[in-house]
Amino acid sequence: MYLRDDAQLFFGGDYNPEQWDEAVWKEDDELMRQARVNLATVGVFSWALLEPEEGRYDFAWLDAHLDRLHANRVAVDLATPTASPPPWFTLAHPDALPVGPDGTRLVHGSRDTYCLAAPAYRKAAVRIAGELAERYGKHPAVAMWHVHNEYATLCWCDHTAAAFREWLQERHGSLDALNDAWGTAFWSQRYGAWEQVLPPRATQWHKNPGQHLDFRRFWSDTVIAAYREQRDAIRAHSDRPVTTNLMLPGYQNLDLWAMGREVDLVAIDHYPDAPGFGAAADTAFAADRARSFAGGRPWLLMEQGTSTVYSSDQVLGKEPGEILRHTIGHIARGSEGALFFQWRQSRAGAETWHSAMVPHAGADSRIFREIQEVGEAVARLGEIKGSIVIADVAVLHDSDAWWAMEVDGLPSKELDYHGSLRRAHRALWEAGITVDFAHPENDLSRYRLVVAPALFLLSDAGAENLRDYVEGGGTLLVQHYSGVVDARLHARLGGYPALPLREALGIRVEEHRPLRRDEVIVLSDGTRATVWSESLRTEGETLVTYTHGMLAGKPAITRHRFGAGEGWYLSTRLDDSGYTALITRLAGSSGTPGLESVIRGNWRFLLNHGTEPIVLPEPGPDLLTGTTVGELPAGGCAVLKQGRTL
Ligand code: GAL
Repeated sequence: MYLRDDAQLFFGGDYNPEQWDEAVWKEDDELMRQARVNLATVGVFSWALLEPEEGRYDFAWLDAHLDRLHANRVAVDLATPTASPPPWFTLAHPDALPVGPDGTRLVHGSRDTYCLAAPAYRKAAVRIAGELAERYGKHPAVAMWHVHNEYATLCWCDHTAAAFREWLQERHGSLDALNDAWGTAFWSQRYGAWEQVLPPRATQWHKNPGQHLDFRRFWSDTVIAAYREQRDAIRAHSDRPVTTNLMLPGYQNLDLWAMGREVDLVAIDHYPDAPGFGAAADTAFAADRARSFAGGRPWLLMEQGTSTVYSSDQVLGKEPGEILRHTIGHIARGSEGALFFQWRQSRAGAETWHSAMVPHAGADSRIFREIQEVGEAVARLGEIKGSIVIADVAVLHDSDAWWAMEVDGLPSKELDYHGSLRRAHRALWEAGITVDFAHPENDLSRYRLVVAPALFLLSDAGAENLRDYVEGGGTLLVQHYSGVVDARLHARLGGYPALPLREALGIRVEEHRPLRRDEVIVLSDGTRATVWSESLRTEGETLVTYTHGMLAGKPAITRHRFGAGEGWYLSTRLDDSGYTALITRLAGSSGTPGLESVIRGNWRFLLNHGTEPIVLPEPGPDLLTGTTVGELPAGGCAVLKQGRTL
């Protein structure tokens, strides 16, 4: 990837000089040097300045900033500004404004106010992307392209309806096939003409589940098509890598596996949703997902909050040292650097209170001093650039399964796809295991353990693949309510889960029995469980049984030897300690509690998340400090050279 000094990791952030004046730009140049910034994302929300009227462009101001940054040895990640169309656009094309499921059409005055299915928006977006690429495609400052910003907006308007129908025709081929897939024989929903088919707008009661799932798939394809148009317009003029910043980890408006294949470099934004230890776990979760969507290749942390974390309705401050730990946490798991949102804290506008590398208080502040230290640390890690992380345990993730669990009418509202994934990852993280995410239909043979925490929807191909994985010698843990519907959301008949997977697990689930809200049951080994229980039979080994009601004495956790491997089934939701114990039993533990340890290439990254110093089993020379480290202080990080090569 292009950067003037290729042996550097990226360090910097979103830079919005258009919010400031010349005196501040001068100070920016100086402070960027002090913080060792080498990459700035420019232009993300600058459409109104770049194209003040339809078809009239003003690039002079951007020319000046790119030249200035280049002279200051800061490379540019140049954004297309399409996440925020200017007011003139919406007045000229009101039909391109997004419409909610209830028919409310939104107005401009915020950002992300467009419909990706509206032809006028798509045309205008490709046009401005092409203009920028033509002008700056070979500009020496431009290191990469940043298409759009966090593709997120959904829309239910008439343009969307027309595009959805086209997509459905392509996918299903005929109305009969669509009626069959969506099960429209129920509730008199049968469609007799394509014009009758709508996006899943507000309905009187439960929506059709197939319609919901297909709409999610359609929208993901729409986002990817919109991205591709801009990417291709850029590629016509520039050979620099093109990417878009994915919103992670909690948003799921597109199939991130598919998007990962479209970008030259996977880039994510990460804003932890809890302080302290929770933020550290969430950092590892986001980073492991990013690396997985990148196919194991290095990726880039495009945005992180500088000094704050979100927690419910509050924005809490990071503790001293936490900016460095989050940064190192991402780099350890494959990021080619660390960028922040944003360089300088805005003085006005909707995100005045969002933290930045240069806070309102200015450079004479704890935050900027920490940013300088982090910049120093990242600069010392240049030699790890391009090296990879290898994991031998995987957690299964599938967008279809996530979207499927959003449908109305499931037996319990406490089933939680994303929460289940995070929980599995966290238990493994706490055990010190480095984890990949994997798609259920991909080759899993390199993993010694695969955990399927929430595969409600499992395709036929996925079920076969999981069976083959176990038969070939893998250990698979499948959790409750998995494999119960196929790719069309039709229930599996004859017992759950899907037959090929049942063979590997040696079970047949007959009945789902959700627990009452707040009900806690105790299993035969004393573990507590909530949310869910199942009535199942096993031809394998019953490890733990239920002790309550009609399930008393029946299997709760089972193990089955199949081929050269083992299929484990967990039919309830264990409490945290029980779940961690089960995961640790399966995965082992390489951990010292509170010490995060990840191998990337030839280096071992160590992060002490605890409150006490930790004596390291093997002292070694630390890339961050240049000294030999034998003990890691509370909150400290080290990057030690390893003897082995990957
Ligand atoms: C990101 C977004 C940025 C900024 C940041 C802080 O999700 O891409 O533009 O809004 O959040 O809230």
